Amino acid sequence: MFIDTHAHLQDALKIRLDEVIQNAKLNNVQKIICASYDLSSSYDAVNISTKYEGVFVAIGVHPENCEEYNDEIEQKLEKLCENKKVIAIGEIGLDYHYTKQNKDVQKQVFIRQIKLADRLNLPVVIHTRDAIGDTLEIVEKYKQYFRHGGVFHCFHGSIEVLNKIIKLGFYVSYGGAITFSNANSLREVVKATPVERLLTETDCPYMAPVPLRGTENEPKNIPIIAQKISEIKNIEINNLEKILEENTKKIYKI
Ligand code: NI
Repeated sequence: MFIDTHAHLQDALKIRLDEVIQNAKLNNVQKIICASYDLSSSYDAVNISTKYEGVFVAIGVHPENCEEYNDEIEQKLEKLCENKKVIAIGEIGLDYHYTKQNKDVQKQVFIRQIKLADRLNLPVVIHTRDAIGDTLEIVEKYKQYFRHGGVFHCFHGSIEVLNKIIKLGFYVSYGGAITFSNANSLREVVKATPVERLLTETDCPYMAPVPLRGTENEPKNIPIIAQKISEIKNIEINNLEKILEENTKKIYKI
C-alpha cells in the first residue's frame, strides 16, 4: 500500500471527504496522516479519524499560529492524545517566511511541543521555512527529547542540512515539489536521502504534483510522487512501496 504521511483534510477537502478517501483507496493509498496546525484543526482531524479507519492524526500548533499557544491549549492537546488515532505531534517548527517579528515566541512554542511529544511518547512532525539555521540549532540542542523520533516534512533543504538531520535520526518526507520542472537540486537531495529514512506525503490540498499542478491536491496522488522517487533512486516501484510502508510503520507505528 501507499501512505500519505502528511495531508490536510480539515479544510478545502472536508466538503467532499467521502470522495477523497475513496479516490485514495482506488489508488492504493490506504493510510493517511491528517496533520494539524492549531487547536481547532486538531479537534477536526481527530473527528475525521473516528469516521475513516485509515486516517490517523498529528496534532499541534504550526509556527504561524504560535501566538495562540498557552498552558490551556497544551492541556487540551495532551487530552486529545488519549485518542489512539493520534500518532504524532505536528506540524510544529519555525517559519520566518511571512514574519520574523515573533522568532522568540515561535522558538518557545516549538520547544514546548517537542517536550510535549516526548512526554506523550510520540514522534514530531517538523515544518521549517526560511528558518533552517534556528531549526537545526533547536533539534540539536534538544535531541534528548526525540526518543520517539521525528520527521522533516516537505523537506527542501540542502544536502548538507539533510546529512545533519539524518545523523540526528530524523526521517525525511517529500511531496509534489520533487516533480516540479525547476526542482533539479531538490531531486539531488532526494537522491542523497538514505532509502530507509524516506517518506511520502502530499501536503494536500496544496502542492499538487506534475502533471496535476494547479488542481486541488489529494492523497490519491501519492503514487505519482512515489513513482518520481523510484526514478530518482532507481528502485523498482513495488520494492519502494514496501520500503515506504515499512519506514512509516517504524516512525509512526501505523
Ligand atoms: Ni502541511
